[in-house]
Amino acid sequence: MQILLTGGAGYIGSHTIIELDKAGHSVVVVDNLSNSCEESVHRVSEIIGKPIPFIKADVRDAVAMDSIFKSYKIGAVIHFAGLKAVGESVAKPLEYYENNLNATFVLVSAMRNNGVKNIIFSSSATVYGNPAVIPITESCPKGECTNPYGKTKSMLEEVLSDVQKADPEWNVVLLRYFNPIGAHQSGRIGENPNGIPNNLMPYITQVAVGRRPELGVFGNDYDTPDGTGVRDYIHVCDLAAGHVSALQAIERKCGLAIYNLGTGHGYSVLDVVKAFEKVNGVKVPYSIKPRRAGDIATCYCNPAKAKAELGWEAKFGIEEMCRDSWNWQKNNPKGYEG
Ligand code: NAD
Ligand code: UFG
Repeated sequence: MQILLTGGAGYIGSHTIIELDKAGHSVVVVDNLSNSCEESVHRVSEIIGKPIPFIKADVRDAVAMDSIFKSYKIGAVIHFAGLKAVGESVAKPLEYYENNLNATFVLVSAMRNNGVKNIIFSSSATVYGNPAVIPITESCPKGECTNPYGKTKSMLEEVLSDVQKADPEWNVVLLRYFNPIGAHQSGRIGENPNGIPNNLMPYITQVAVGRRPELGVFGNDYDTPDGTGVRDYIHVCDLAAGHVSALQAIERKCGLAIYNLGTGHGYSVLDVVKAFEKVNGVKVPYSIKPRRAGDIATCYCNPAKAKAELGWEAKFGIEEMCRDSWNWQKNNPKGYEG
């Protein structure tokens, strides 16, 4: 099947192209490069040994999107495009609502107008808020999101569910990602944040490579085994493979389906620092800082539903995640810029 990847030049999208190619799918990528660069697509093209059709366009551009659906025989869309920085979304709520909501409205209208009714949406564990149950199952109620980014994910889940309810020919898969880290084993593609990283792993790798003096650990007084925040880190290649399994569900006409994509294991900030130091033989100096506003103590999932219904489960452990994150960073100390 030919798959349209919105935001396919980004971190998760670029890794997903490789898994789709392995499974025999072809791709078309549309991205406005607001948080990525075309170099990632070039490198993926080298890895898979094939050209990748790339359109530099904004998903909010209805004319551009209509033309993509008219030019290619798209069977399904994986909708990665969106702004994703939690802190920035608090400072710039309008930009986040405008981009993430409008891009999805324009995309889904273009899909409907062109008879394409299969979509996989990049949602997030953030929709559970401070989770009512740990480990989190898909039946856990959605919670209060503390930031506009998370609210866009939660709202868009509702929008897409309503589209599917109104027209049961739609297949809508909502994938709630936990914390993707790691990189492709080639070391050619990986996470390339702009400016100071918000997320833990890119911060650790930038400290290890000498770009930043030390990691700030946001709080050591949470109700967790060592007091630091616990998360469900998942290798980005495992996460990417989850999209291939979701496409198979679409081919079986799944209607509306929701899956957690995580490993089911929780690691604290200090567990990750220690694993990173051990597997890579490098030091990651850190100091304890105050808690970060909006953070929760513990977030990890029960991934049993994805295993039972999709036959998908994560294969890589925390050491492989740390190894591959470092392999990417040390080979590309300035990311795609050099
Ligand atoms: P990313 O920023 O690397 O990729 C997103 C891509 O979308 C970027 O290449 C950006 O240029 C593009 N984009 C943004 N707005 C666009 C628009 N209007 N038109 C065209 N392109 C646009 O982020 P990622 O980590 O690869 O995340 C992919 C998706 O997964 C996002 O929707 C994100 O919210 C979601 N998600 C990510 C995480 C995570 O921790 N990385 C966790 C949960 C959910
Ligand atoms: N942390 C630090 N220091 C840092 C960065 C993070 O101690 O410099 C800690 C955080 O306090 C947290 C853990 O590391 O305990 C993970 O933080 P991240 O920022 O890497 O990830 P979050 O769990 O806060 O959020 C991520 C994505 C969201 C997504 C969420 C859902 O950024 O977009 O996972 O799983 F919604």
